[in-house]
Amino acid sequence: MDPNLVTKTPKTSRENWGTKVGLILAMAGNAVGLGNFWRFPYQAAKNGGGAFMIPYIIALLVMGIPIMLVEWMQGRYGGKYGHGTLGYMVYLQAREKLRPKKAIIIGSIIGAMVIGVTVLVNSYYNHIIGWTLGYSFLTATGAYMDPAINTGQFFVDYIQNPVYVFTFWILSLAFLAFAVTRGIQKGIEAWAKFMMPILYLFGFILVFKVFTLGSPVNPDWSALGGLSYLWTPRWSEITPIAALNACGQIFFTLSIGMGIIQNYASYIKQDDDIVTSSLATISLNEFAEVILGGTIAIPIAYAFLGMDGIKGGVGLSFIALPNIFKVMGGGRLIGTLWFLLLFFAGFTSAIAMYNYLVSIFTEDVKLPRKVASMLVFGLYILVGLPVGIEAIVTKTDALAYFTEVDNWVGSYLLVVVGLIEIIITGWFMKDDFLEEVNRGAYWKVPGWMYNVVIKFVTPLAILFVLIGSTYVYIQQGYFKLVPSFVEKLPELVPWVNGGRLAILLVLTIGFVGTYRSIKNIYGEEIKSNKILIRK
Ligand code: PFF
Repeated sequence: MDPNLVTKTPKTSRENWGTKVGLILAMAGNAVGLGNFWRFPYQAAKNGGGAFMIPYIIALLVMGIPIMLVEWMQGRYGGKYGHGTLGYMVYLQAREKLRPKKAIIIGSIIGAMVIGVTVLVNSYYNHIIGWTLGYSFLTATGAYMDPAINTGQFFVDYIQNPVYVFTFWILSLAFLAFAVTRGIQKGIEAWAKFMMPILYLFGFILVFKVFTLGSPVNPDWSALGGLSYLWTPRWSEITPIAALNACGQIFFTLSIGMGIIQNYASYIKQDDDIVTSSLATISLNEFAEVILGGTIAIPIAYAFLGMDGIKGGVGLSFIALPNIFKVMGGGRLIGTLWFLLLFFAGFTSAIAMYNYLVSIFTEDVKLPRKVASMLVFGLYILVGLPVGIEAIVTKTDALAYFTEVDNWVGSYLLVVVGLIEIIITGWFMKDDFLEEVNRGAYWKVPGWMYNVVIKFVTPLAILFVLIGSTYVYIQQGYFKLVPSFVEKLPELVPWVNGGRLAILLVLTIGFVGTYRSIKNIYGEEIKSNKILIRK
């Protein structure tokens, strides 16, 4: 490259995290979410407990840790150039070996996918946050404590009740908007510093309660029995589906393949230690997931309802547990703490996706943060409407739109994004990954981690998962024009197709938008197909 061609773009004044503790708590807040306390228990229960934890731990080692390191690296690297979004980051990496003209295509594809994730996952995730806020309130006021009330029916009534659904959803969104508008330090960091310690405290209180439950209903059922279900490895019972779900859970719980780890990492200083911080984020997340998340819902359900209780699937948190809060000593308080814990967990995660979209508007379109934040608020209302009104309009509880969007965007797309990230980092980035990731690090990432794991093991493992998931999706009929899960419910077909349309629309707009943004800043070098801007 001709050094004379190197031009400097004006220095961007990027916000930084205020303190190290604040950064770690914000990142932990990002990762520790509904995935840990709501999704993990039912995934583990549905996939055989002890048979789930084995692929889970393997996926953590083979995919979770390497991708987390890669994402922190990408974020800090992009932050150096003033970028907080993934399209630019991947463009900057890929241009080294692929040259700018091809790099912009890959950057735009991944940018589009991440816009798909941050717009559409939050379209339903914000609703679940709303439910948790609603249930905190309804548990505290004792709304379902009457023994005559069936908690399954109560939940269905809840999601079909526009007053509940809209009040708590919009309230949660308004809190999010308020927090994000205040910026990185005063908004996101401040809320994480407040909410995360409380979340862990509530978690400990609930775990303590679990250990003092004994066998309240049946001498054969105890909380410890529930724990041993989760922790007894049953190698022979591991199915390919359990293994795939375990990999999906690792992506979801660590917030990888979503672009939001990179976004947070783009606000750190250039020689901050990202290796220790990545490992701290993973540790805090896994502690919250397997120790706290795994020791609350499953053991409580097992102690009161036995094996049947933990097979409850998605309804574990909102149907099985409320049933127990009704009869357990101090159940109203315990139940309120549980739903507030879910609310805090969800809030500090959703804020990361919210901020990702705000970054697009502030950095690419140069809008003031406040305006950007209001726009994202409106956008989330728009994309969340179908999720909110489906149950109300159809008078069913199938949540077909939600299910379809979650299947594709919340599960499948994350893995595709992870695969592209790791291939670009392992194969197309010229600057040595090790040098980049280890700058300022106390513990250095060893050479084999790059040469063996990031280059070969992780991409191959992800590819394997992707092929497996595609096969399972075909078998389970998700590729069909009318997917199998709504075959017998024709009135829900438009909701599924609406979900598909929303996905296509968001991806298309995301692609065009990202392409234009990259071109806007790197147009010269794309035209000449040579790298001109380097920092
Ligand atoms: N790691 C998060 C969780 O476990 O819930 C994933 C996440 C979902 C983050 C939705 C942000 C979000 F808006």
